[in-house]
Amino acid sequence: MQQMLVTGGAGFIGSSFVRRMLANHPDLTIVVYDKLTYAGNLDNLEDVSQNERYKFVDGDISDRHAVERVLASNRIDTVVNFAAETHVDRSILDPDAFIRANNVGVYVLLEESRKHRVERFLQVSTDEVYGTKPSGKFKEGDPLEPNSPYAASKAGGDLMARAYYATYGLNTLVTRGSNTFGPFQYPEKLLSLFITNAIDDQALPLYGDGMQVRDWLYVDDHCAGIETVLQHGAPGEAYNLGGDNEQHNIDVIRAVLGLMGKPETLIKSVDDRPGHDRRYALDNHKARVLGWKPSMSFTSALEQTVAWYQRNEWWWRKIKSGEFRQYYEAQYGQRLKGK
Ligand code: NAD
Ligand code: DAU
Repeated sequence: MQQMLVTGGAGFIGSSFVRRMLANHPDLTIVVYDKLTYAGNLDNLEDVSQNERYKFVDGDISDRHAVERVLASNRIDTVVNFAAETHVDRSILDPDAFIRANNVGVYVLLEESRKHRVERFLQVSTDEVYGTKPSGKFKEGDPLEPNSPYAASKAGGDLMARAYYATYGLNTLVTRGSNTFGPFQYPEKLLSLFITNAIDDQALPLYGDGMQVRDWLYVDDHCAGIETVLQHGAPGEAYNLGGDNEQHNIDVIRAVLGLMGKPETLIKSVDDRPGHDRRYALDNHKARVLGWKPSMSFTSALEQTVAWYQRNEWWWRKIKSGEFRQYYEAQYGQRLKGK
């Protein structure tokens, strides 16, 4: 029986990973350890809440004693760390929480994992650690040149995982995934925000000229990639999980509006994000060699995603009526008034 700790498992990608792993591995027990920040949500795990191989523990990855307790009392042998502050715009408004979770938190998890002789530790990182790429695709050996406080804090956690392998022999792995979308994504990110705004016929605040390029990856494919790297990755190595699906933001939004039968007049061009990376693109050959590849077509994944937000208003309406309102005003109030 394998005992896995999934930190940040109440968030968007982590909850999907938990669902997948419980279904695919009958010998696995999972402890989700999550601070339940504004982005953590037990609704995301409702369908596994009665599974006897699943348990939830409320806690912070930067709390050393609590991490020590959860590792020891559950005899954890594998750690997969999704826990992080994840939104670039919030990191620009206030970087503090990003350093605590994405740097101090990762360090504490690594240090306690080393002491407790954890057998495998996977740090979920991001393509944003590389910075921007005018042409070509990033490879795992390329320099990390992050441009936002979020990306810099993720680069710190990514490199600390590498250092714990080189220095202490902790069996660490790193995945660098590209822009992920799908059900249960907190409605602050481009797709989840714009789909839910469009349902309500609200403005879609497009930064700058909308010609930035992101590489889109469906959440199930991202989780399958993490599962593959966990099973077959080489200790100390990083793996790009790129979707091979580059799109300009404006084209993604037009596709969403087309699917929803909503007018393009909802799009409002607003002041750009400071330090906005123009383009991300990943070479995913190294992960493909392990047996992974993105399998969902962008069009059908987008259709499923739009349909999910249309069907599950119960999930996102209560989020949008809470803390989210103050954030929305701080982030978009002035930007949208200028239009
Ligand atoms: P999310 O914001 O939906 O969820 C983050 C989760 O971490 C939440 O449940 C939150 O409560 C928890 N958390 C935050 N700080 C914590 C702390 N100090 N202690 C314990 N729990 C804490 O994020 P997501 O989009 O699911 O991203 C998950 C991971 O994947 C992150 O590490 C992110 O950097 C990485 N990633 C995300 C994407 C993407 O496009 N969403 C792409 C590549 C990589
Ligand atoms: O690339 C992986 C990263 O993808 C993850 O590491 C991050 O956790 C995740 O938030 C995401 O970062 P981005 O900054 O790329 O995602 P976001 O959804 O915030 O923005 C996607 C693009 O859309 C980006 O070019 C900015 C633009 N955008 C975003 C928002 C929220 C807008 O034009 N308007 C908006 O309101």
